[in-house]
Amino acid sequence: MTATITEQEILGWLREDNLQRLEELWARADRLRAERVGPAVHLRGLAEVSNHCARKCGYCGISACNPAVARYRMSADEVAACAHEAVRYGYGTLVMQSGEDYGLTADWVAEVVARVKAETPLAVTLSLGERKPEEFARWRAAGADRYLMRFETSDPELYAIIHPRLDGTPGLPSDRLNLLKELRALGYEIGSGVMVGIPGQCYESLAHDLALFSTLDLDMIGIGPYIPHPETPLGRGELALLPEGEQVPNTELMCYKAVALTRLACPEANIPSTTALAALYREQGRELGLMRGANVVMPNLTPPRYRALYEIYPHKACFHETAEAFNATLQVRIAALGREIGTGQGGRRHVEAEEPISTNMFDT
Ligand code: 5AD
Repeated sequence: MTATITEQEILGWLREDNLQRLEELWARADRLRAERVGPAVHLRGLAEVSNHCARKCGYCGISACNPAVARYRMSADEVAACAHEAVRYGYGTLVMQSGEDYGLTADWVAEVVARVKAETPLAVTLSLGERKPEEFARWRAAGADRYLMRFETSDPELYAIIHPRLDGTPGLPSDRLNLLKELRALGYEIGSGVMVGIPGQCYESLAHDLALFSTLDLDMIGIGPYIPHPETPLGRGELALLPEGEQVPNTELMCYKAVALTRLACPEANIPSTTALAALYREQGRELGLMRGANVVMPNLTPPRYRALYEIYPHKACFHETAEAFNATLQVRIAALGREIGTGQGGRRHVEAEEPISTNMFDT
């Protein structure tokens, strides 16, 4: 997939704060989205299947470091019920997400994937953390279609600071880029992404993240603001911000820039307007993401009694919404944007050969 923008240009736009100039960026991203992936907004139903986690990521509210979290695992029947609910609402995909929970055995996951594939026409996306290549292969054989694993930041030093190795868990260095390659080789569509505004993240590093999306030829890219969680080391301010002018702010505006630039870097990728973005601007965050490059929404189907326990960051937009109510308003909101709800599984389109982009897309 050919990027329509260079890393240098990305950096220039990330530093651009003139709202009038930014209108150009929004328009360019929206135009490229329309040309390359069309008007469809694909809906992926999200089931947060377990909030157990072995990792100690410094930003995440459900990390192993947080003793205050009551832990749960959904049953296979509960996951299947989410899948059937997704079908009822016309969604094309079930996303099974969890903390890195070795209590979710390879067998259990394989059985649930096979069951969802047998009982529904859905694509299945897994987002279960860094697991063994054999496990990825097993789940792929059971029918899983896609795997999401954000690399969070491409700066190795910052990555290491916010992802400390587990005490007493030998042999678990984190190597997400390599795992993404393994997943691709197994035939998964692969997704990754980053948080915007992590303390210590500079503009050059975020520009490099976005350029890397294109190098990795990602099929799916999720981007959201870093949101401090008070029960985490980062949320307690244990990591210093860079001086003003160097630190990427975790603002709504910066996230829209990152989403729009991601569309320019990866014209055919599926890009969600994320829940974290909606958390920053509840009224319109999702819409603005969709108008500035995104083409996917991931409605939450986790049963209400578990939702508040999957608090990776505070004030998740979905805490107060039932799946049914959200679904009803979503249809109207998407239509109001002049867009339509995607049909089918909504996998990645490869349209480059058929529809070459005009050269004026390279103008900035
Ligand atoms: N703020 C924003 N996003 C977060 N995530 C985890 N913790 C936070 C936080 N405090 C994101 C990570 C992870 C995804 C599932 O949620 O990017 O990959």
